[in-house]
Amino acid sequence: NGKIKVGLMGFGTVGTGVVRLVDSYKEDFFNQTGSVIEVSRILVRNPEKERSIFVNSDIVTTDPRELIYDQEVEVIIEVMGGIEPARTYILEAIEQGKHIVTANKDLMAIHGEELIKKAREHGCDLFYEASVAGGIPIINAIVEGFSSDRITKIMGIVNGTTNYILTKMSHEQASFDEVLQEAQQLGYAEADPTSDVEGLDAARKMAILSSLGFHVGMNLEDVSVRGISKVTLEDIKYGEQLGYTMKLIGIAKKDDELIEVSVEPTFVKNTHPLANVNGVFNAVYVYGEAVGETMFYGPGAGELPTATAVLSDLVTVVKNIKLGVNGRNMATPYNVKKLKREED
Ligand code: NDP
Ligand code: HSE
Repeated sequence: NGKIKVGLMGFGTVGTGVVRLVDSYKEDFFNQTGSVIEVSRILVRNPEKERSIFVNSDIVTTDPRELIYDQEVEVIIEVMGGIEPARTYILEAIEQGKHIVTANKDLMAIHGEELIKKAREHGCDLFYEASVAGGIPIINAIVEGFSSDRITKIMGIVNGTTNYILTKMSHEQASFDEVLQEAQQLGYAEADPTSDVEGLDAARKMAILSSLGFHVGMNLEDVSVRGISKVTLEDIKYGEQLGYTMKLIGIAKKDDELIEVSVEPTFVKNTHPLANVNGVFNAVYVYGEAVGETMFYGPGAGELPTATAVLSDLVTVVKNIKLGVNGRNMATPYNVKKLKREED
């Protein structure tokens, strides 16, 4: 009847944004897909929790089976976070023929290959645009936009929380702990913010981008990581006196067959555009052999920006359902090489 029912796993920052946008842009989604999108079930941990948006309590559940085994639900949006039980729920949902949209970079960086393989086997879509750089459609850009080129380098700021912290420390002399708390209140930080401040979140995102950009298997252990937990106000001020701004920079480089991926606090010259990416904003440079330098900029975290990325995937899934072309995902299907290490 033209209605697509969606099961939403997680009703926190991103889940709330998803419900809001499904409602606000109902007509726009209908115009694009010919379908009415309805969030028909929502999975949470605590159904008593006060929410910032009203939904009928009948659709809220703590039982994942009510989404996974609901015959009418065609798509699962996973925005709970963490590895388990998200991985198990997604695998089970794929076995039931559900298409998946997820914002979960922890899961995709570590178990992405397993999930993609499973989705392919069952003819299900699996998309994860929101997993990297929030509202910037960087995965689409790399996979679709750069399919005609050879990417040689991907570089940028891919964590909103740490960029927010570094910006506030630099511009307002605020203390690290105080600004981290603010970032948590604003919904930018991960449930365990250690992964933000220690650079792990950025490392997972760089692993995803380099895998997609260089057509290699994902290998998180090969990303060298240093976070910003040891960065002091003095470090930042010292750099500023010399004309530099401290940023947490991710770099993935491909040189012949050798790939190097790193995340570390870096002094960037003030005149460089990355030095002027402030607050929760992210920016990613992608260098193509043929096109040269390109830059993508936008909000890297937060409720509505992230929800736009989730919903753009959902619109793609719905279009695919209409066209009968499911089983699609954002990964290199042929000739995926193993990442070559320096010592190989
Ligand atoms: P939140 O912590 O705000 O929300 C998580 C939601 O999932 C909550 O509603 C929680 O339920 C529910 N949940 C968690 N574990 C379980 C479980 N075991 N069973 C049932 N429900 C569960 O997270 P975010 O919305 O910030 O993030 C969600 C995902 O999106 C993560 O993977 C994150 O990395 C990713 N992401 C987040 C961005 C952001 O800006 N926040 C940006 C890009 C990606 P309850 O409400 O009852 O506690
Ligand atoms: N915690 C992440 C960040 C959320 O701050 O960038 C967006 O992926």
